[in-house]
Amino acid sequence: MTHAAFRKKVLTWYRAYGRHDLPWRHTRDPYRILVSEIMLQQTQVDRVREKYGEFLRAFPSMRKLAKSTPASVVRVWKGLGYNRRALNLRRAALAITQQHAGHLPQDIATLESLPGIGPYTARAVRVFVWNRREVVLETNIRRVYLHYFFPGRRSVRDSEIEEMIERTLPARNAREWYWALMDYGARALKGIENPNRRSRHYARQSRFEGSQRYARAKLLDFILARRTSAPLPIIKAYMMQDPYLSQWRDRVLEILAMLAADGFIERTKNGWRAQR
Ligand code: ADE
Repeated sequence: MTHAAFRKKVLTWYRAYGRHDLPWRHTRDPYRILVSEIMLQQTQVDRVREKYGEFLRAFPSMRKLAKSTPASVVRVWKGLGYNRRALNLRRAALAITQQHAGHLPQDIATLESLPGIGPYTARAVRVFVWNRREVVLETNIRRVYLHYFFPGRRSVRDSEIEEMIERTLPARNAREWYWALMDYGARALKGIENPNRRSRHYARQSRFEGSQRYARAKLLDFILARRTSAPLPIIKAYMMQDPYLSQWRDRVLEILAMLAADGFIERTKNGWRAQR
């Protein structure tokens, strides 16, 4: 297929069947788009859609988020998982208000210097906020390129895919092009092309129940739900009610120390509470 025919196929499909109602596709506000991209990194669209409005009502601007407490952000984040993203997003808002007069920086290097913003998010934000022509690769886009440009190949490298993305990128309106690619990969190729099978890099999310990530999330929920410090015996008693959590009982101090090092909680003379 020629590049022009490929673009036309994806865009025509998108205009007829794309997800045109996603709220973050109806704003160009850098703050709102940054929030959506951080949420969408590791969480499914339907779950993000449920949380997005609630989060923006609680923290309507970069400045409001910068002024919030870590615990309040993590509480609203609940349900999205990977709580460190919430703390990083808040830290990024702090840096943006303090060092960039509240304006999201536009250049890649400065964006990538912010907490929680890596190569993918920096480029996605430039595409969706300013309609810049960048190479953006995530799981749904990978699926599209594997299907059309690497049929039958195994162990395809992301660098090869990125080169094809660059070559097929339309001269204008990268924003719509990437919306189209994401939807085409997520919907049109769903079930046809499994990016796990032929990519050298694609990593499936590992099992959550019973994992250390699960234990950290559960203990954090428990501690943040309390208004006073949680004493260690209370934490241990709570753990024993959950068959997965109880298996981490002997390592509770290690997990609490990790949550403290990440900036979620702190130790008091009575136990553990949300970091202030
Ligand atoms: N629209 C804009 N960014 C998106 C993303 N990362 N995933 C799905 N839809 C999006």
